[in-house]
Amino acid sequence: MGKNDNLHKAKEAKNDEFYTQYEEIQLELNHYEDKFKGKTVLCNCDDPFESNFCKFFLRNFNYLGLKRLICTSYGTSPVIGQQLTLFDWMDEPVMSGNGYVMDITEVPMANGRGVSDADIETLLKSKKRGVKKLNGDGDFRSEECIEYLKQADIVVTNPPFSLFREYVGQLIEYGKQFLIIGNVNAITYKEIFPLIKENKVWLGYRSLNKYVF
Ligand SMILES: C[S@@+](CC[C@H](N)C(=O)[O-])C[C@H]1O[C@@H](n2cnc3c(N)ncnc32)[C@H](O)[C@@H]1O
Repeated sequence: MGKNDNLHKAKEAKNDEFYTQYEEIQLELNHYEDKFKGKTVLCNCDDPFESNFCKFFLRNFNYLGLKRLICTSYGTSPVIGQQLTLFDWMDEPVMSGNGYVMDITEVPMANGRGVSDADIETLLKSKKRGVKKLNGDGDFRSEECIEYLKQADIVVTNPPFSLFREYVGQLIEYGKQFLIIGNVNAITYKEIFPLIKENKVWLGYRSLNKYVF
């Protein structure tokens, strides 16, 4: 592998770890509020402790009337192994290289008026309902993650840029509805453009110079 290949791979890896701002998610998702009632949402590139997609759906779980929320994280997530205190309550030590899953069907509210950060923390730390270790690394293409995909109605995330084509291909293969962030160049990909032409995929409401949903 040449020096440029290494640089290219390092840049791709850095892009793959770009995290989405809460406000960006909220502003786009505001347009689809009525689409989530009774649905199972999967965020399958999302560390439950780190991802604002998870946070958004936890905060709005009751408001949107979700049936179930599943978030799976990938083994190389930077939070794994660094913020160990977050995982202190788990029975087993946290393994770098392992993926984690949060799979919930209710978000209890302490004050009954809205989901607070304290409610979210309690839920994430709950031994019964909180975050559990996956068998593998949480790759969205792995068997156990595909099982979660099969159970989902809508997939919402910002997937790794370097795997965008494969990621969308899998969603189409399993016939899932989705709302995802991608680089604007993705419109021109030979795997993506025909989907837009056939009206199977369309652009979101916001930031057209930056993202395609
Ligand atoms: C662009 S980041 C976005 C993270 C998060 N979804 C968000 O929007 O803040 C892409 C995420 O996908 C994860 N990832 C990379 N390769 C993956 C794979 N094969 N399967 C699942 N997740 C992967 C990365 O660790 C990273 O957390």
